[in-house]
Amino acid sequence: MPTMPTVELHLHLEGTLEPELILALAERNRVDLPYADPEDLRSRYEFTDLQSFLDLYNANLDVLRTGEDFHDLTAAYLARAATAGVRHAEVFLDLQSHTGRGLRPEEVLDGVTAALDTSRERGLTSGLIVTLMRHLPPEGAVEAVRQVLDSGAEVLGIGMCSTELVRHARDFAPAFGLARAHGLRLTSHAGEEGPPQHVADVLDILHVERVDHGVRAMEDPALVERLAADQVPLTVCPLSNVRLGVFPSLGEHPLRRMLDAGLLVTVNSDDPAYFGGYVDENFRQVTAALDLSADHLRTLARNAVEAAWVDDARRAELR
Ligand code: ADE
Ligand code: ZN
Repeated sequence: MPTMPTVELHLHLEGTLEPELILALAERNRVDLPYADPEDLRSRYEFTDLQSFLDLYNANLDVLRTGEDFHDLTAAYLARAATAGVRHAEVFLDLQSHTGRGLRPEEVLDGVTAALDTSRERGLTSGLIVTLMRHLPPEGAVEAVRQVLDSGAEVLGIGMCSTELVRHARDFAPAFGLARAHGLRLTSHAGEEGPPQHVADVLDILHVERVDHGVRAMEDPALVERLAADQVPLTVCPLSNVRLGVFPSLGEHPLRRMLDAGLLVTVNSDDPAYFGGYVDENFRQVTAALDLSADHLRTLARNAVEAAWVDDARRAELR
C-alpha cells in the first residue's frame, strides 16, 4: 500500500529553517537573537493565523546572510526530504525577502541551486520556484522576475505567496506575464486565508497552472466543478492549515471531501520546521485523522506525479 509520498510540490525553503539551524547560523554570522536555545524558539510557534506565523518566519530570515547559508539550508532540507522518501521536490524561495535585506540575487540563487545540483546527482530531482511576495509593491515583483531571468540560474517557475488579504491578483499580471513570456512555469497561493474568488482570479488573470492550497475553493460548488473538470492541481498542506487556523482540526480538514469530489489534490508540507512535520508526517497524520483508504493514498501519490513539472521520462520513473 503506498503510504508515503515521493513528490513534494509545496515547500518553502525558508520554512525548513529548523531552530537548531537558526541558532547555528546566528552564531556563524554574529547575529544577536532573543532566544536562549532551540526549545525557547520552538515554544513560540503558537500561531493564531497566517500573519502571526509570517511575522516570526520573516524575522528569522535575518540569520541568512551569505550564499553558503542558502546552500546549507537547502542541503539540510534535501537530506530530510530523502529520509521521507521524496524523489522529486519543487521548492519555493522568497527571493525578494532576501534582496530586500541587501543580498545579491545571484548569491542567493547560486547557493540554493548548488545544493539542488548535488542532490540531483544522488537521484533526488528538483525544481526551483521563485515566489513573489503579495504584500510588497507589484513593481518589485516585476524586478524579481527580471533578476531571475538575468541571473541565468536554473529556475523552473514563478509562484506567489505571503498574505492573500492585500492587493488584487491583477496587480501581479505584469510580473506573471513577463515570466510566462520567458517560458517559466506558473503557480500561486490562493484560497488559503482568502475566499474562493481568489482561486478563480489566479487562474483567470495570472494563468497559473497549479494553485497552492486552494482549500477554500470547497466553499463554492461551481468552482469545485470547474477545478475538477479542468483537473487543476491543488497543493494542499494539512498540518499547515490546522496550525494557521484555516481549519480547527485535521479531522475537519476537507482533503478527503476534495478527493471524493474528483479534485486533483496533493499532500505537502508548506513550512515543516514551523508546523510540526515534513511531508511524511503530513501523510501519516492526515491518513489517520480522515481514515483515508488505500485508494485515496494511491490517488494522492499519482496526483503528485501528474502535477509535477517534469519531463515524460522522469514522470515515467516517478510513477
Ligand atoms: N509563506 C510561507 N508559508 C506561507 C503560507 N502558508 N501562505 C502564504 N505564504 C507563505
Ligand atoms: Zn505555502
